[in-house]
Amino acid sequence: MDRAEPARRQPASSRPVDETTDRRIGVLFVCLGNICRSPLAEGAFHHVLAERGLADRFRVDSAGISDFHEGEPPDRRAIAVAKARGIDISGQRSRPVQTGDFLDFDWILAMDGANLTALDGRAPDHATAHVGLLLEVAEGRPAAVPDPYYDGPAEFDAVLDMVTAAAERLADRLTQAVDQAAGGVPPKRRST
Ligand code: 4NP
Repeated sequence: MDRAEPARRQPASSRPVDETTDRRIGVLFVCLGNICRSPLAEGAFHHVLAERGLADRFRVDSAGISDFHEGEPPDRRAIAVAKARGIDISGQRSRPVQTGDFLDFDWILAMDGANLTALDGRAPDHATAHVGLLLEVAEGRPAAVPDPYYDGPAEFDAVLDMVTAAAERLADRLTQAVDQAAGGVPPKRRST
């Protein structure tokens, strides 16, 4: 599958989100616990979209491979580093990835290779989402966002740096891909 192309969509009747009216780009960030990295990625992406006036073009969420922390807010260290940059993630609640996510979202972006392997193993045959590593899709480098759970504030801050840089590039890439698919930019012609 070419992971740079926008997802093909399911008929609206099989989807919880009404695709006849909802043309937003769906992006789901995924890590293991959904209390450290993916909530920071979700918060950073919301922040970038708001700064650029793009919020209404996207539908953004995050989820965990595990249900270890289901219903819990993000880790207090994640909330603190985000708050220091004016990003409020305290209202988020952890939830596990569900089968329907593979139909509801255009992009499911994993923080590390283990998350990606787990996602690939859970994707239903009729999945329409593009599933990839966040840093590979955003920046073209197949690197992981390291898990800061057993570390301190400096590592949480470093994660926020990484996901913020990735969020900037992701906003560029996904809006360009959709605008091109909509015919905004004509395809290049080969000169013969
Ligand atoms: P996250 O970090 O995947 O970035 O949310 C972790 C959170 C919790 C655990 C591991 C990683 N845990 O083992 O509970």
